Amino acid sequence: MISVRAPATSANLGSGFDVFGVALDRPGDVVRVEKADETTIEVTGMGSEYIPEEPAKNTAGVVANALDAPAHIHIDKGIRPSSGLGSSAASAAGAAVALAELYDRDLSGEDLVRVAAEGEAAVSGEAHADNVAPAILGGFTVVRDDGITQVDASLPLVACLPETVVSTRDARGVVPDSASMDHVVETVGSAATLAVGMERDDPVLVGRGFRESVVTPARAELIDGYAAACEAAEGAGATGVTVSGAGPGVVATCYPGRRRDVASALVDAFEDAGVEARAFCTEVGDGAEFV
Ligand code: HSE
Repeated sequence: MISVRAPATSANLGSGFDVFGVALDRPGDVVRVEKADETTIEVTGMGSEYIPEEPAKNTAGVVANALDAPAHIHIDKGIRPSSGLGSSAASAAGAAVALAELYDRDLSGEDLVRVAAEGEAAVSGEAHADNVAPAILGGFTVVRDDGITQVDASLPLVACLPETVVSTRDARGVVPDSASMDHVVETVGSAATLAVGMERDDPVLVGRGFRESVVTPARAELIDGYAAACEAAEGAGATGVTVSGAGPGVVATCYPGRRRDVASALVDAFEDAGVEARAFCTEVGDGAEFV
C-alpha cells in the first residue's frame, strides 16, 4: 500500500488568475492506494458526503484511469470541498503521485501535474493546473501553456473558510470578458511584485502583489462579509488579503508572528456579518509527499 499526503493550495493570489498557486502547509488530504483488478474509491473525512465515489466522477478515479493503474483508493479528506482551497486538486494530486509509485511509472513532476489536471477537468469541467501544480510540486508555482515555473517559498499565511457556498461555475461566470489597459498595467505590476516577493520570502511584496481590480472585486460580491474581513485582517497585521481560488475561502499573508491575530480578525469579521467561519494558520509548504 502507498500513502501520500497532498496539501491544500491557494490559486490566483489576486494578480495571477489561472496562473499562480501556492501549496499550504495545512490542511491536506491523505490518499492510500492498493493494486486491484478494477478501481474502487472510498472517501472519508471532511465533507466526504458530497464527494462521489464512482470512479468516473471522482478526480482520483479519473487519474487512475488516465494512468491505466486500477486500484482501491481511499481518500481521507482534510480539505473541505468547494472551499477555494483546492480540495479536488489535492485528491487528484495525491492519487497521481501514489499511483505512479504503486505502478512504478517513470513520470516527471510536470507529467504528474498533467495527469492530475485531467482528473480535475473531468470533475470540474475545466482543466486548471493552478491548484494541482503546487499540490504536486510544492512552493509557489506559475502555470503557463508552455511550462510550469516553481520556487520554494517560506511565507506566513492564514486561510479562512466562511460557511458560504460559492460554486466554481458561478465564480467563473462573474469574471469579466475584458479588462481596461489601466487594469492590465496594474495586474502586470502586481504579478511581478508578487513573484519577486515569493523569491525573497517577503510578505510585504507578496501582499502588495495580491492587488487586482478585475476578477477579485467581481468574486468578492459573492462572499458576504468579504470587505469587512479584509479590512479587519489588514488592521490585525495582514499585508494582503484576497479570494482563495474561486472562493469562498480567503487567504491572507501577514507579518511574522501576526497569524493568530489575523485569523481571529477574519473569523470575527465574518461572524459579525452573520457568516460562520474557521481559519487555519499556515504557511507556504511542500507538495505531495509519501507518508
Ligand atoms: N483559477 C481557478 C479559478 C481556480 O479561479 O477559477 C479554481 O479552479
